[in-house]
Amino acid sequence: MAVLVLVFVLVFVIIRSTITALRPGLRSIPGPFIARFSCLYRPWKIAKGNAPDFYLALHEQYGPIVRTGPNTVDISDPKAIPILYGISSKFLKSPFYDIFNPSYEDEKMPNMFSVRDPAQHQALRRPVAQKFSMSSIKSFEPLTDECTSIFLAAMAELEGQAVDLGVWLQWYAFDVIGAITFQRRFGFMEDRTDKWGMIRAMEKGLVYAGIVGQIPALHSWLLGNRWVARIMAAQSFFEVADPLRSIVRFTQQCIDEYDRQPEEHRGRPDFLAWLRESDGKGNRGDSTAISLRAVIYFLAKNKSVYDKLQKEIDEADRAGNLSEYITYTECLELPYLQVVIKEAMRCHPGVLFPLERVVPDGGVTLCGARFEAGTIVGINPAVMHHDKTIFGDDAAAFRPERWTESDDEKIKLMDRHLMTFGQGSRTCIGKNLSIMEMGKLIPQIIRRFEIEWASDQPQWCVETFWFAKQHGLICRLRLRER
Ligand code: HEM
Repeated sequence: MAVLVLVFVLVFVIIRSTITALRPGLRSIPGPFIARFSCLYRPWKIAKGNAPDFYLALHEQYGPIVRTGPNTVDISDPKAIPILYGISSKFLKSPFYDIFNPSYEDEKMPNMFSVRDPAQHQALRRPVAQKFSMSSIKSFEPLTDECTSIFLAAMAELEGQAVDLGVWLQWYAFDVIGAITFQRRFGFMEDRTDKWGMIRAMEKGLVYAGIVGQIPALHSWLLGNRWVARIMAAQSFFEVADPLRSIVRFTQQCIDEYDRQPEEHRGRPDFLAWLRESDGKGNRGDSTAISLRAVIYFLAKNKSVYDKLQKEIDEADRAGNLSEYITYTECLELPYLQVVIKEAMRCHPGVLFPLERVVPDGGVTLCGARFEAGTIVGINPAVMHHDKTIFGDDAAAFRPERWTESDDEKIKLMDRHLMTFGQGSRTCIGKNLSIMEMGKLIPQIIRRFEIEWASDQPQWCVETFWFAKQHGLICRLRLRER
């Protein structure tokens, strides 16, 4: 009897997979044979942490449009960007994002990043959008300067030693998020440790999200299931990632502290109001840290760029144009710095998974192929940023000069195809904050220190589970004469 049931199930699965594989529209899309039948293909491939190479290789082999799953297609055609991500696009985020709805005390907490419904998204984004405008963000400069001061003092203390700068930049970025959101640093840099294991928990959470998110339905049988989550939390055999718990605990402490203050002493109520209705923002420190690491890495590896940038900063400093803590306005007057940062984020965007969207009612034609409503389509920033028709034959190389030597038309074209912060209505709300943080910190470091690569490995090591996180940014810093 059991054998009969097994045979029956097997036949059912084969028939269903074959029907899916031969779905009209999708059946003519090239791609790995197995991907037509099984949604396990992608998680199996990207579990190694090399999603960008995987997607680049697929497009190299199969062209601008590749079927990567029974109902999933990856696109590298620049013309698809406005269709999928344009400001009034009807392409909503795919169920992949549901995995970023953390549960806390059995409640799902969709946040601005993960929410799929456009009305709910607007309701979350509109009230806080103003707080993320550049003029608002600039008011946080003194708080970031406090973090910069701690960072520089630590680097001076560690002068001459091989330091994992990647770890320090992450502590810095986390402390900045803590400082501006809670008016209180998490204390990563002061304590020189991964406080409450938050970073490690987040890393593990992203590995889970990156792999299981490829088959979102699986999540409700795993950590998305309240009983499984409870059992996993109760046992001590396997370590379960729960970054949210420590962040929420910290948030709660801050809110309690804030509530205890008399009304007239309560500063910055808007950000706290935002916090009350959203999850913690630990992941956001991660993305800024990835971009800071990218800038330092490309500088350490490209001597001529480093020297040119150092010269620009020194000249501005000698001319008295840079304050003790370089302001955001001052860093905008350093044109080479601006293109170095932009180019580093082009070569190494923080997110290197496809930004998946669902084809809306009525279907769509992309790259000459017709897709039915419900098909999942996405563009991976890694793939787009390597497009030679947009960024030139040397698209794979770090060359900030591409942003200064090209004519205005070409620069506008390249700008339109940058996906570092996503695009359209779901573009990153924290962009201004990160740009300000990076624009201020990088020249501050370059002015004060000489940086050299001190790892015994020739390169860093990158692991991608949604975020493309680098390890092994081992550098030696030496104080400079000023
Ligand atoms: C250099 C640093 C950063 C990078 C590279 C980055 C990257 C991105 C990308 C690619 C998206 C779009 C995702 C998609 O379409 O699927 C996004 C969205 C988002 N980011 Fe960032 N991010 C950074 C920093 C931040 C910071 C500092 C914050 C918050 C303080 C933040 C908050 C958000 C939010 C809330 C969304 C969702 C926006 C929406 O859907 O309306 N990000 N980010």
